[in-house]
Amino acid sequence: MAPTRILWILRPIPQGDALERRLGCAERKRARGFGSTRRRREWVCARVTARDLVARLLSLPPARARAVVLDATRSGAPFARERSGRRLPVSLSIAHGGGWVACAAAKGAGLRLGVDVEPVAPRRLAVFRRVLSPAELPAVARARGRARDVRLTRLWCLKEAVLKARSTGFAVDPRTVVASPGRGGPGWRRAAVRLRGRGRAWCLRRGVLVVALAWLEEGEAELVQG
Ligand SMILES: CC(C)(COP(=O)(O)OP(=O)(O)OC[C@H]1O[C@@H](n2cnc3c(N)ncnc32)[C@H](O)[C@@H]1OP(=O)(O)O)[C@@H](O)C(=O)NCCC(=O)NCCS
Repeated sequence: MAPTRILWILRPIPQGDALERRLGCAERKRARGFGSTRRRREWVCARVTARDLVARLLSLPPARARAVVLDATRSGAPFARERSGRRLPVSLSIAHGGGWVACAAAKGAGLRLGVDVEPVAPRRLAVFRRVLSPAELPAVARARGRARDVRLTRLWCLKEAVLKARSTGFAVDPRTVVASPGRGGPGWRRAAVRLRGRGRAWCLRRGVLVVALAWLEEGEAELVQG
């Protein structure tokens, strides 16, 4: 069986509000309701980015691409539909962090796909004791300085990507997702994640950012930059 193509994109969140022109009426109204400019801009950029990715994945002509509605399930997990309400045959995940939006999408509805992006920043290990499993703690505790920050960020991202793929987010204890970022070069590296079931996860370092992707379905997947 051919690997499933997962399209992913990492896009800087622009400073101005020009992207709002690409929103539909209802979305623009919702965007205006955000109290914080930062939150509004990340939300708007995520909508536009996700719609572009869905249109590319499904090869939609411009008029149909503009009509894609990004909706969310009750848990908050995003999905794409037509204005009529018909769900589009695509699964997607959204994240924002460090001034960037990350989005990933694959063909087929209801697939468990998750993405996260976080900036590498100094973090207190004490906080992470509530997030890391006993298996993850020793390697982090041994690391020092920047190496520790990077490792913590990778673990955090992997857990969040997995929990988004499961649509639960942190309603589930992140210590139940046991990860090891794996070794590798500058591109995507396959991470080891004990997932209680099928699936795989990857991590990417891009400058000060870490991105993680989780795919909790059978079969191989191929990561393609969108
Ligand atoms: C889902 C969750 C992990 C997102 O984390 P975050 O650091 O706030 O934000 P991120 O930038 O990484 O991701 C945001 C995106 O996650 C997506 N998302 C939200 N809930 C989701 C869920 N249950 N499953 C999958 N994706 C979800 C949304 O698309 C959102 O983007 P949007 O606001 O532009 O639509 C977090 O909000 C969460 O755990 N929520 C559920 C449990 C909860 O609310 N617990 C209370 C706090 S412990």
